[in-house]
Amino acid sequence: MTPLRHKRLANAIKALVKEHHKWRQGCINILAAENVSSPSVREIVASDLMHRYSEYEAHDIGRRWDEGGRYVIEIERIVEDAAKKLFNAKHVELRPVSGHVAIASVIMSMVGAGGRSLEVKGANGGHEWYYIAKSLKPVSYTPDWLPFDTAEWNIDVDGAKRKIRDAKPSLIILGASFYLFPHPTREIREAADDVGSAIVYDGAHVLGLIAGKQWPNPLDSGADILTGSTHKSFPGPQKGIVLSNDGEMLQQVKMSLYPGMLTNHHLMNVAALGYAMLEFLDFGEAYSRQVVRNAKELAGSLHEHGLDVIGERNGYTRSHQVLLRTHPSMQGAEAARLLDNANIVCNKMELENADGLRIGTSEATRVGMKESEMKEVARFIAEVVVSKKDPPLIARKVRAFMKDYARVEYSYERGKNPYEFLHFAGRR
Ligand SMILES: Cc1ncc(COP(=O)(O)O)c(C=O)c1O
Repeated sequence: MTPLRHKRLANAIKALVKEHHKWRQGCINILAAENVSSPSVREIVASDLMHRYSEYEAHDIGRRWDEGGRYVIEIERIVEDAAKKLFNAKHVELRPVSGHVAIASVIMSMVGAGGRSLEVKGANGGHEWYYIAKSLKPVSYTPDWLPFDTAEWNIDVDGAKRKIRDAKPSLIILGASFYLFPHPTREIREAADDVGSAIVYDGAHVLGLIAGKQWPNPLDSGADILTGSTHKSFPGPQKGIVLSNDGEMLQQVKMSLYPGMLTNHHLMNVAALGYAMLEFLDFGEAYSRQVVRNAKELAGSLHEHGLDVIGERNGYTRSHQVLLRTHPSMQGAEAARLLDNANIVCNKMELENADGLRIGTSEATRVGMKESEMKEVARFIAEVVVSKKDPPLIARKVRAFMKDYARVEYSYERGKNPYEFLHFAGRR
């Protein structure tokens, strides 16, 4: 008999995953890129679809390379329709496995070698697409940066218009990672039209807010293409999406995506995304409204605790994010680490003009927190970052506080625990 030499270590992985579940259930999860989905979404992710292949060529969702996909085709048709309805878009591409892959496929199809782009500089909270594209050697386009007004935390519209007319980029990339206020898409469109530039809007962070009608839909204000992640402000599985009203442009993206960037497209996540989207059509508007309310409340409360919250003159935020400077009293990296030790999970912000923390309210809202809880969350954060109390002491208080929030809201499965480790029938 083969000795089970590695079984102990294999089981150790499973035990660690269970520990992870237990720990994160007792944390205030305010990392802006994260969210939690409904139990049914997780069941679908863990389904047999995760074993399967069902590739299709760029143009025809019904013509599969592989056999075995009779139900997959039906599922994908439902998901495509749900996506078009949710984003008021004529065309959709569901195969990107993440937001990153979604926009990389757009860049590959629209700029290519020798092209030019204008984007938000990483130092101003952009996603640094150029540095990513640079490592895709055949792309190697020439980037330039959109002028940015740090005080307003937004693109400087007049400066951007001038730059677009001068630089005549093939592609303008809007959207950001550190993102508080909507970028001026309509105004940028005017200048883009003068020089024939295309606009792609990287909505990775704000996709849920767009679907929930709390953030302007870039496709309605002049963007040619909208890309996004389906797991940040949108509470779905980890995945990416590309949407457009221009069929020809989307066709180009499809070609660069398949077979350029991927083969099979993680069918379990497509199906799970469909479930999450249909649920969002029923609950998403109320959910997203509360997400933004919570972010505003959290920002205001942090300000009252003496923290330097960005965007005060514009009401702090219109998104799920709150950005705060902690430097010079504490570096953002240190603040994030201390908060993690206090069971408060967010991430650091290390930008040219801002060293501190990025916080998001998507997950906290999903588990039922409202404005009054945001005041509590701000108090916990201030105890660690301002009063410099012992993090393990705060962690105990946070665990007690979180006992009431192991429940999903805005869901067909309202009240169920989204942090529970899913056991297959009969297994513990
Ligand atoms: C603006 C922006 N675009 C794209 C991405 C990549 O998204 P994903 O993590 O889904 O690949 C991120 C990541 O957080 C982001 O902030």
